[in-house]
This record gives sequence, structure tokens and C-alpha cells, in this order.
Amino acid sequence: MLSLLVLISGGGSNLRALLDAATDAEYPARVIAVGSDTDAPGLAHAEEYGVPSFTVVPTAFESREAWGAELLAQIERWSPDLVVCAGFMRILPPVVVATLTPRIINTHPALLPAFPGAHAVRDALAAGVDTTGVTVHVIDEGVDTGPVIVQQSVAVEPGDTEHELHERIKTVERALLVQAVLDIANGHVDLEETAAR
Ligand code: GRF
Repeated sequence: MLSLLVLISGGGSNLRALLDAATDAEYPARVIAVGSDTDAPGLAHAEEYGVPSFTVVPTAFESREAWGAELLAQIERWSPDLVVCAGFMRILPPVVVATLTPRIINTHPALLPAFPGAHAVRDALAAGVDTTGVTVHVIDEGVDTGPVIVQQSVAVEPGDTEHELHERIKTVERALLVQAVLDIANGHVDLEETAAR
């Protein structure tokens, strides 16, 4: 059984998809803890499923490095097999990435390398592309630059608002993340190999 620690900053629908998937006895992964950088609404999903959570707020620390060290300590307390960033909206300090990679993955609402960063859906709309999508990737020291595990495209419809397009992307994203974690758990995806590409 692959143990997951999920990091979130927002509503946590991707977290919830993993919690739901893990209610199936056949699904080979379990969320053992949830972490956040803020009082995220999505922490309620963890509570509902009886999963412990922690919050490490950057403004409570003197430096990004000090925040990163505490975040890493909180993560390591749980010894997770895999850390999943699911809408975690902070760039991780180098010590966190260096310690955890390649056993730390992220889901991003665009077809990387297109539209990295915090406004991927808005940027895709502004660029006028007719297709965008979702990427699940290993986190490396860059911003949304890590080796891709899997991608799936989503059509941009005429007149889409950022919210409408993001909601359609998130429907695809939740399923893709659950599948990616399944593939990692059952060995169909080897993270060491992915990271070496
Ligand atoms: C997802 O689209 C994720 O990729 C992103 O923010 C969204 C988070 O959604 N950067 P949720 O909190 O999992 O509902």
C-alpha cells in the first residue's frame, strides 16, 4: 500500500478525489496525512475522512528556508511513500525538493511546458489556444518544470470564462491524478526512471 501525504492550499477537490479512491479496498494507495500553508477550506475533507492534517504558515517564520525546514519536518514525521502537491500554491524551498524528489509530484492545470505558474488557466485563455489540459509531473527545483508523468488535453470552448474552463480541467485533473497515483503504486510508473529522463 502506497502511503500518500497530500499538500493543498485551496478547496481540495483533488485531495477529495484521492480520499474517495482510497475507500475502494482495491485501490493501492491511502492518504495518511494532509498538509497546508494556510487555513485551506480543503482541510475539511481530511477531517471528514478522519485523516490528520497540519498547517505550516510561511508568515510565522523568519525566512523561506525556516518555513521549508519546518514543512519538511512535518512531512517526514509521517514517512510518506509519496508526497502529492494538489493545488499547493507555494514554491517549495530547495531543501524540501532535494530531500523528497522524485517521490514528490504535482498536478498542474495546463499542458506543461505551456503555461507554468499560478495563473495557468488565465494565461491559456489570454493566449487564445484552443486546447489546454492537465499535467502530472515529478517536482524538481524549477517552477512546474519537472519530468512529466502523464498529460491529458482539454478543449477550450468559445466564450469560456476562467472559472468554467478551470472547472472542466479539474474534472479531468481529478481522474488523471487518481490514475497517476494508481500507476505509481502498482509499478507501471517508475518515478526514478521518470526523473532520470
Ligand atoms: C487545481 O487545478 C490545481 O492544479 C491548481 O489549483 C487547483 C486546485 O484545485 N493549481 P483543488 O483545490 O484540488 O480543488
